[in-house]
Amino acid sequence: MMKAVVIQQYGNSDVLEEMEISKLAPEENQVLVEVYATSINPIDWKVREGYLKDMIPFEFPITLGWDVAGKIVAKGNGVTDYQVGDEVFARPATTNRGTYAEYTLVDEALLAKKPTNLTFEEATSIPLAGLTAWQSLIDVAKLKAGEKVLIQAGAGGVGSLAIQIAKHIGAYVATTASEANENYVKELGADQFINYRTENFENKIDDFDVVFDTMGGEILDRGMKVLKPGGRIVTIAGQPNKELAKQYQVEAYSYWLEPSGKQLDELADLLSKGIIKPQVGHTFPFSAAGIKEAHDLSATHHAKGKIAIKMK
Ligand SMILES: NC(=O)c1ccc[n+]([C@@H]2O[C@H](COP(=O)([O-])OP(=O)(O)OC[C@H]3O[C@@H](n4cnc5c(N)ncnc54)[C@H](OP(=O)(O)O)[C@@H]3O)[C@@H](O)[C@H]2O)c1
Repeated sequence: MMKAVVIQQYGNSDVLEEMEISKLAPEENQVLVEVYATSINPIDWKVREGYLKDMIPFEFPITLGWDVAGKIVAKGNGVTDYQVGDEVFARPATTNRGTYAEYTLVDEALLAKKPTNLTFEEATSIPLAGLTAWQSLIDVAKLKAGEKVLIQAGAGGVGSLAIQIAKHIGAYVATTASEANENYVKELGADQFINYRTENFENKIDDFDVVFDTMGGEILDRGMKVLKPGGRIVTIAGQPNKELAKQYQVEAYSYWLEPSGKQLDELADLLSKGIIKPQVGHTFPFSAAGIKEAHDLSATHHAKGKIAIKMK
């Protein structure tokens, strides 16, 4: 048995509770990871609230959490590239046996070795948000050196990594945040800061090649206005209005990340060289109370960088 923080019904953060649940054995091509740290993503509280129950129909109890950094303690048949004792990180498969637990199962294909220069809290802050930023900018938007990209919510979990990835590619980066985060996003490498509280970004920039939308709704619609004809907008927070995209002559995509150990390994390389720096803005302890506080912070939409949960 092992300790986990689970939900047995949908609801506000009071439904998070500690529970002893079974410790699963790794199946073929899987490893069992002792969780040293996990992180909070908005999907965690969206699942907890029940907003995604049709899309992701999990059975209760649900162990939330889809980021892990830790040590391999057992491996199933067929695992060749990893050994017991390896320090790893991953965005595991989307199951109801997530990472708010002392141990979690991860498919070998989703694993990467943890960069040695990162703490476990730093490492766990990368997989879900980092892969989302990486795939959105590189695989979907096909951002190239010299292009101009607008990154919405540059001070957030995904945005703070997206700024660094876009700068690494060699793009010009404009980003939105509140005034409190102006210096923060500039330190991350942003060339242009737009205070969304006092300015409409579409009045500040024009003729951009790419918009990375992390906000959805009317912000997603307005994002199309800053693109040049043929520009690309990728949203991870809704569905783009196809009619509007046609009107502005832009390509519009909605994207949901694909966990990938191979791409995480590419990110690990940049992290180990210090080209991308993890952005842990907040850390909470592994308990129902700690995770409740972390969910409530995430749900304000004003967390800075990533939120980590420290187990060890
Ligand atoms: N489709 C996928 O695969 C996928 C993957 C990851 C995340 N997501 C989604 O993407 C969204 C962002 O995730 P996240 O982890 O980055 O969220 P987050 O860390 O909670 O984002 C918080 C940030 O948003 C900023 N913000 C709030 N309102 C803003 C506005 N009007 N304009 C610009 N910035 C604003 C805040 O900056 P200030 O404090 O300065 O206001 C804060 O830094 C969530 O909806 C999440 O569910 C989707």
